[in-house]
Amino acid sequence: MDNLYAKMTASDASVFMQVSLQSIHKHLKTKDIESFKSQNRVYFGFESARKLFSIPFEKKVISFQIVKGGTGKTSIAYSFAIRANLYGARVLCIDLDQQGNLTHAFSVDPNIVPVMIDVVKNNAELSDGIVNISPGLDLFPSRIDNAILDNEIMLGRFPLEQLYLKIIEPIRENYDLIIFDCPPALGHSVASSTLASDIIISPVTPEQFGLSGLKITYDEVKILNKNYLKDIKMKVLLNKFDSRTALSSEVLRTLINDESFKDITCNALVRSNQEFSNTIFAGTNIYSSLKNTSAKEDIDLLVREVLNLDELYNKKTNKIELM
Ligand SMILES: Nc1ncnc2c1ncn2[C@@H]1O[C@H](COP(=O)(O)OP(=O)(O)OP(=O)(O)O)[C@@H](O)[C@H]1O
Ligand SMILES: [Mg+2]
Repeated sequence: MDNLYAKMTASDASVFMQVSLQSIHKHLKTKDIESFKSQNRVYFGFESARKLFSIPFEKKVISFQIVKGGTGKTSIAYSFAIRANLYGARVLCIDLDQQGNLTHAFSVDPNIVPVMIDVVKNNAELSDGIVNISPGLDLFPSRIDNAILDNEIMLGRFPLEQLYLKIIEPIRENYDLIIFDCPPALGHSVASSTLASDIIISPVTPEQFGLSGLKITYDEVKILNKNYLKDIKMKVLLNKFDSRTALSSEVLRTLINDESFKDITCNALVRSNQEFSNTIFAGTNIYSSLKNTSAKEDIDLLVREVLNLDELYNKKTNKIELM
């Protein structure tokens, strides 16, 4: 297995499935599920995960959004997609940000394929732009041309409620999870992605004005829900958390004492960790290596919480036996 590829370790699988490590090893062997060994640790990828866990995913569309820049939308969308894929989810990431940071994270050249502006303006198909990253993980890239998306949507008088919903419709069945990475803005494109989503995740950071923008995104989701009779859920995620700083505790306290935010703040939070930028810089991801990091742990808990994985897995009847 390639070093760049993300890995699910047998020990993580044993924690998730609540069985011993030996049961996992034995199950992989008897069911002839492909696994690899390195540094005395057993690991596997998407296809094996799909066989081992066979989680009955509830199909979901998730948008990472907040009007404030640099709060971790892209870093978390990227790691979230990769971790969900390691639980066996078929994932499509759609980059809507003209900065193309998610496209860059996946090391994809966006100049050779259609991007969203080509779909909206020139009737290109979404499927023509989809790039396969690794088994069960695809990306629809973005480039700077998407800067005029909002204008085009307005000029074309496209109905916001239908636009992205219709665009993803032909490929929707191919995926368990579709993730939109949005620019730090509010506009037609972002609103249309909201209206195509089941869940909006807004990362906030513990810095001065770290919560600015949250209320704006919250109000926008509320208005769209009301005007279009939708039930789009919003979740607030505390990112770059550092327990040593007063500001981190302060922001957390503000969130859990706020009438609007206390019930929608994720239990999972993401600690500050250089691995997020180091791995993207190296063209890899936080799950490429086998070492234990807080980044891996935090994103794992987030994915399990948002996708309800523990409950979906535990509801299954054909779980592997405890040994
Ligand atoms: N948990 C974290 N710990 C440390 N650094 C982080 C963490 N999350 C994100 N970062 C860093 O913060 C910076 C901004 O992150 P990112 O690009 O993901 O934010 P964004 O919200 O997508 O930004 P934009 O609004 O410009 O799209 C990056 O350098 C990223 O590596
Ligand atoms: Mg971004």
